[in-house]
Amino acid sequence: MAPDSGAFILFLLMDNYELYQVLRPRYVCLCFGLTEGDLKNAIFKHNIQTFDELQKQTKCSSNCGTCEGDVKKILNNILAETKKSID
Ligand code: FES
Repeated sequence: MAPDSGAFILFLLMDNYELYQVLRPRYVCLCFGLTEGDLKNAIFKHNIQTFDELQKQTKCSSNCGTCEGDVKKILNNILAETKKSID
């Protein structure tokens, strides 16, 4: 059996709703159509270390601001993980 066959079997057992929940992109900033993946890509690509840098790069949280908490959580998680992997 291939190493990822367990995940494949799991996909086969999911109904359409469950598949949609797993595969859909998670939009974080609706005003600018930014997904969690977009933010993570920007953070890694531009070596972003602060919320202000991420905001300048992507415009996230610069309109209604309701996504600010989620954006900061994503950034903080990545910074914490990156620091852990350096230590
Ligand atoms: S949802 Fe991100 S600025 Fe409005």
